Amino acid sequence: MAFNVAIDGPAGAGKSTIAKAVAAKKGYVYVDTGAMYRAMALYFLRENISKDDEAKISASVDNIKVSIKYEDGAQHVILNDEDVTGLIRTEEVGNMASATSVYSAVRTKLVALQQELAKTTDVIMDGRDIGTVVLPNADVKVFLTASVACRAKRRFDELTAKGVEADFDQIAKDIEERDYRDSHREISPLKQADDAILVDSSEMTIDEVVNTIIDLCK
Ligand code: DC
Repeated sequence: MAFNVAIDGPAGAGKSTIAKAVAAKKGYVYVDTGAMYRAMALYFLRENISKDDEAKISASVDNIKVSIKYEDGAQHVILNDEDVTGLIRTEEVGNMASATSVYSAVRTKLVALQQELAKTTDVIMDGRDIGTVVLPNADVKVFLTASVACRAKRRFDELTAKGVEADFDQIAKDIEERDYRDSHREISPLKQADDAILVDSSEMTIDEVVNTIIDLCK
């Protein structure tokens, strides 16, 4: 039986940073499920499909093949044979992913892929619905969160460090909107599973969060 760790939480809580570090220390494979929703979103953006056009989105899901592969331990997302890993980290793609992940055709396809991966491999998987829907029997479930101000500050610092001009208030507003949409959608909303451990990283260092999760895996 594979060992499965589920990490859920809102945008910008540090899920991927933490999950990657735990994966490296414990020898698990890190699966970033948000990247899969982002790859699909990129397809819809390129095809000029509106985020509100559920019929078109559902109809085009069959034309989209999303898969992941690992190179030197890093996850690469493949969209119809193209490696799109470097193209999906923009705010535009993130917002489109949030908007189009509400549709059942999109979720059904990606949840199946995620469950398949976790069946045979020790994984630490991050997302919004991992502990509740994708891996309800995960060995460890964590709900990782942080205050909006703290998440906006981290994102702001990340962008300015890259030399990208950023507007703190706009980032905070985007985060609030995304939180609202992700946690109020009808299908698999972002929510803490009953048996998940809540970790608020607002006042914690990365190492502290990583060690907390590693302790839970023992
Ligand atoms: O974690 P992220 O920012 O890369 O995710 C982008 C969007 O994808 C997020 O706003 C909602 C959606 N998502 C989801 O619905 N379920 C997941 N398991 C992961 C992401």
